[in-house]
Amino acid sequence: MELIIDVRNHFYGTLLALSGIQLTVSSGGVVAIIGPSGCGKSTLLGIVGGLLKPTDGLVSSRGTVPDGCLNPLTYVFQDFSLLPWMTVSQNISFVLDHHSLSTVEQQRRVADVIKQMDLSDFAHAFPRQLSGGMRQRVGIARALVVRPAVLLMDEPFSALDAQTRDLMIQDFLDLWVRERITTLYVTHNIDEAVRLADQVVVLSRRPGRIKAVVPIEIPQQRRQEIEFAPNLSRLRDELWSLIRDEAITANREFAHD
Ligand SMILES: Nc1ncnc2c1ncn2[C@@H]1O[C@H](COP(=O)(O)OP(=O)(O)OP(=O)(O)O)[C@@H](O)[C@H]1O
Ligand SMILES: [Mg+2]
Repeated sequence: MELIIDVRNHFYGTLLALSGIQLTVSSGGVVAIIGPSGCGKSTLLGIVGGLLKPTDGLVSSRGTVPDGCLNPLTYVFQDFSLLPWMTVSQNISFVLDHHSLSTVEQQRRVADVIKQMDLSDFAHAFPRQLSGGMRQRVGIARALVVRPAVLLMDEPFSALDAQTRDLMIQDFLDLWVRERITTLYVTHNIDEAVRLADQVVVLSRRPGRIKAVVPIEIPQQRRQEIEFAPNLSRLRDELWSLIRDEAITANREFAHD
């Protein structure tokens, strides 16, 4: 499913948070949004997800949804948002509760995503018994259980240590190669954006406007190959130079390797 985003302005009271955001996320594409703290990234994701109504603008979608889709757009949160008193499988299945599925269908969907995210041995574990990477795999499994057409992720890997983040990026890529799910996601990490996205959208300081859209044309599965290293390094430098001024004023919060 393709997303067509046209947010002319979004105000919180008198504060202009976003302006002139016109962007298309193609079906099966992965678009990363980067920009300094407070530039409106989460606001944009909230608008796309329908949690917020833009002051002036419209988000529409085009195309088909997967078979058995219960919800076309789903979120993966930065802090995993798991309920501590529920097991992994309960944390995933409760989002199906208000859909009228048979118990068998509900259990089958939960078992499928648990297997897909490699959590089979932990289905009955509680969140406190899991590592950060596993918790986020539960967060992703919970988003996938409704068979969405679009995944919206707000800094999904930023609460993880660097090594776990690396593994999660690989897990996400494996998933994405299998499912080709349209993805719009926010990150502070340029390196991560360059590994996952096929387009990186750079937002300016508040009010967030599109400063640049940088395409990354190398297939995701091949980006670790040595022959592409110089090319990717140039792209990272280009992105870094685009956001450097914004980053300096935003307390150097961008990671740049
Ligand atoms: N509910 C709200 N009410 C009023 N102002 C808000 C609200 N949510 C966000 N803002 C303001 O809007 C601006 C954009 O916030 P937003 O959370 O979208 O930024 P962000 O780019 O996601 O930041 P960060 O990188 O820190 O997560 C900020 O100045 C913020 O203070
Ligand atoms: Mg945010």
